[in-house]
Amino acid sequence: MGDWVRDQWARRHWGLNVLLLFSAFMTFVYVPWDFFVKPVGLDEEVWFGVIFRGGWAKLLEIPHFAVYAALMVGLWGQRAWTRPLLAAYGVQVTIANVVWPLLYIEGWTRFPFAAAAGGAFAALTVWVWRNEALFTPKRIPMRERYGEWALVTGASAGIGAEFARALAQQGQSVVLVARREEQLHAVAKEIEERHGVDTRVISCDLADEDARRDLVASVADLEIATLVNNAGFGYAGRFDKQDPERLVQMVRLHCEAPVALTAAWLPGMKERGRGAVVILGSVAGSQPLPLHGVYSATKGFDNLLGEALWAELHGTGVDVLSVLPGSTESEFHDVAGEIPHAGAQASDVVAQSLEALGRKPSVITGTFNWVRANAAARLLPRSTQSLVAKAVIERQTPEEMR
Ligand SMILES: NC(=O)c1ccc[n+]([C@@H]2O[C@H](COP(=O)([O-])OP(=O)(O)OC[C@H]3O[C@@H](n4cnc5c(N)ncnc54)[C@H](OP(=O)(O)O)[C@@H]3O)[C@@H](O)[C@H]2O)c1
Repeated sequence: MGDWVRDQWARRHWGLNVLLLFSAFMTFVYVPWDFFVKPVGLDEEVWFGVIFRGGWAKLLEIPHFAVYAALMVGLWGQRAWTRPLLAAYGVQVTIANVVWPLLYIEGWTRFPFAAAAGGAFAALTVWVWRNEALFTPKRIPMRERYGEWALVTGASAGIGAEFARALAQQGQSVVLVARREEQLHAVAKEIEERHGVDTRVISCDLADEDARRDLVASVADLEIATLVNNAGFGYAGRFDKQDPERLVQMVRLHCEAPVALTAAWLPGMKERGRGAVVILGSVAGSQPLPLHGVYSATKGFDNLLGEALWAELHGTGVDVLSVLPGSTESEFHDVAGEIPHAGAQASDVVAQSLEALGRKPSVITGTFNWVRANAAARLLPRSTQSLVAKAVIERQTPEEMR
């Protein structure tokens, strides 16, 4: 609990922590008390320095509640919109502190009072507006946050190689795992030279149970602090035209491997009270995807596994994140046998993932993907979703596999 509070406090400037606590107090204690407990006849509410009484006061408590609740949520989540909201509310409070004494205090003292109170709130508002950097989340580097060693599966290409680069940039030494040793060594050499971290290269077919066991044994001397379950592949085509053995390999790689590897290193993370597990799912796993039926089913498994583990481990110091990318530029489309099509940059997917780690159970990278996974998948009937998805995927699938 103490560590959690310290970690939370360290995330923001102390001034924003104070504002967060104040907003929480106003949201949960003061405004509800004002609204529900204080008799209507005694209630007063000040907006822009004008005092409203009785029924008007009750009514105008509602926007006050909305502002404090929004500030609490925004400051907690370090959302970018918090700064303009806080600055706008600061302008209102500044005006109130000038107008109120001029209207309601008798004698000359109202002038210095208005100047002092208005000046103090104006200074606070300007400070908020000018310090944009304070509202972007303060990140503790991965090595400091979770420990020295990361293990990334599928680190020989695409998103996995980008994860290895990003984690090394944040000081973590990296175990790079995939089947192609030469590619793994190339990424390892690059990150060693650029970031001065240690690396270990392990060639392993993660769809193979014995090979996975050997992998776990070969890093028994390391404390794995961050596990990125990334290795995966697509396979475009109609189910009855696909090679069943390759589909079974996919199930082993996407479902068995993350379960087995997470089970191998999670107990150590829990014991140390810190660690991170990232599981690469996909937006393809948030809806049925014809011509990628087994792929979308296995990615649904990954999405849900990560989100469930996030809740199980909440508060233990171990962060879990499911990553749901949409189409991303990598070797994926080639390996899947798809007709090439546009995608996001793998480095952007990784940046958004590391940004979300420790903040939420899953992240959908990219706005279009968010709409697809949320609006479309929640609002449209399953039949419409499947048929629309089929029409889209058919355009990316070679004729002979449709
Ligand atoms: N690219 C996309 O559009 C996209 C979209 C959503 C989700 N994703 C997910 O993101 C993850 C990474 O994909 P990517 O786009 O980076 O694809 P990629 O460029 O093809 O990389 C896939 C990685 O997985 C490794 N791998 C494949 N089979 C393996 C096996 N049996 N054992 C060990 N390693 C294996 C590959 O290395 P070797 O060949 O050397 O073994 C490679 O390093 C996958 O889980 C994928 O499902 C990708």
